[in-house]
Amino acid sequence: MSKPIAIDSVSKSFATKEGSLLVLDKFSLNVAPGEFVSVIGSSGCGKSTLLKIVGGLLPATSGTITVNDNIIDRPGLDRGFVFQSYSLFEWLTVKKNILFALKKSRLSGKEKESLTLQFIEEVGLKGFENAYPQELSGGMKQRVAIARALVYKPEILLMDEPFGALDAQTRGMMQELLLRVWEKHKTTVLFITHDVEEAILLSDRVIVMSSRPGRIKLERSVTISRPRNYETTTSNDFVAIKRELLESIRQETMQTPGLL
Ligand SMILES: Nc1ncnc2c1ncn2[C@@H]1O[C@H](COP(=O)(O)OP(=O)(O)OP(=O)(O)O)[C@@H](O)[C@H]1O
Ligand SMILES: [Mg+2]
Repeated sequence: MSKPIAIDSVSKSFATKEGSLLVLDKFSLNVAPGEFVSVIGSSGCGKSTLLKIVGGLLPATSGTITVNDNIIDRPGLDRGFVFQSYSLFEWLTVKKNILFALKKSRLSGKEKESLTLQFIEEVGLKGFENAYPQELSGGMKQRVAIARALVYKPEILLMDEPFGALDAQTRGMMQELLLRVWEKHKTTVLFITHDVEEAILLSDRVIVMSSRPGRIKLERSVTISRPRNYETTTSNDFVAIKRELLESIRQETMQTPGLL
């Protein structure tokens, strides 16, 4: 089977004033085509570092990452990125922010325009094509960021706490939106979150990372049937998985001096 993402024994150290800081320690993970994998773990355990390395935004100190057997050493159109902060161009309209992502595409101007409008509609922003980011709420900005990451049809979507800054209600709506969009496009997703419920609701598999240096502490597949929605979070299966993951996180926190 082909492996869209193969993380093989990746370590990462940063040089700091206090010396070398080991953030990831021989971290390995394979993600299957179309799979939705979430990574959870305590603050500072190396989740964003991991995602940036997969995104080609940071080099690994050792180990390799391949995407469809190609070694990753820079960003590429095969991977879309959505961060917690909205990272939109404030001086461009919604439509132009999304069109910007198609700058390098070989599509005609007309095709780019129609694809952009299609994705604006998919994320529920019809009518806001010509609005500027400062006119949008946090949830709406994040919809633009999702549309922008998906419009050039990357095979892989890398999401770093994309809903972390949103209130609970908006967050729930965004999770359902992401599920719908993912079910339609079947993009392979690597998703970082602090929120255990969010990880279970969205994922085929949840990875719990140890505290720094980040390693895999627990891997849990989520076989709850799809399509899922907010009601899924009250099912017995869901609650059982949640308990297991929370227990694993609790153990990790207890074992880590300075985290309590
Ligand atoms: N460029 C850098 N230089 C030095 N240290 C760094 C750098 N980037 C990250 N770190 C350190 O590496 C560790 C992991 O950071 P990272 O951002 O990956 O954590 P995280 O798991 O994403 O945390 P959070 O949940 O708070 O977002 C932290 O201790 C951080 O201070
Ligand atoms: Mg982070």
